[in-house]
Amino acid sequence: MLNKKVERAMNDQLQKELQSAYVYLGMSAYCESESLPGFAQWLRAQFDEEQQHALRFYNFIIDREGEVVLKQLDAAPTSYKSVQDVFETALGHEKAVTAAINELYDLVATEKDFASQAWLDWFATEQVEEEKTVGQIVDDLHRIGSDGNGLFILDRSLGSRIGAEATG
Ligand SMILES: [Fe+2]
Ligand SMILES: [Fe+2]
Repeated sequence: MLNKKVERAMNDQLQKELQSAYVYLGMSAYCESESLPGFAQWLRAQFDEEQQHALRFYNFIIDREGEVVLKQLDAAPTSYKSVQDVFETALGHEKAVTAAINELYDLVATEKDFASQAWLDWFATEQVEEEKTVGQIVDDLHRIGSDGNGLFILDRSLGSRIGAEATG
């Protein structure tokens, strides 16, 4: 059984993961509109992955006999200044999610909910991977600058990511 404080925080995180999915889908739509199918595909795989994260929270709340609350999501932008802007925004977003996971971890430790604490380990590790992967793309884009050939090659290489392999 989840205590009410932990249940509320788990539902908040469920919302954040769904919001992340929504934001990535908006980013993917922007890349489609810019004729960058590889970036769009990569971001769509990220959309899938965030939905999987949300479902982990959903299942865990149910498994612990908590009550699932599906909160309102904010509109997700589909317009950005550039693909650099997309990935810098994504990196900032992932850092905010990491901070939220850390806060949640802190709460369950304080509440002595050790099952939740052990379960959250996966997310703590996953966020390291998320920040690393998005950060690498930000660095690649920075290196490419205004070189159209470089952007073309990166777009084609990111396009090889498929949704299934992205789900953790
Ligand atoms: Fe996530
Ligand atoms: Fe993420």
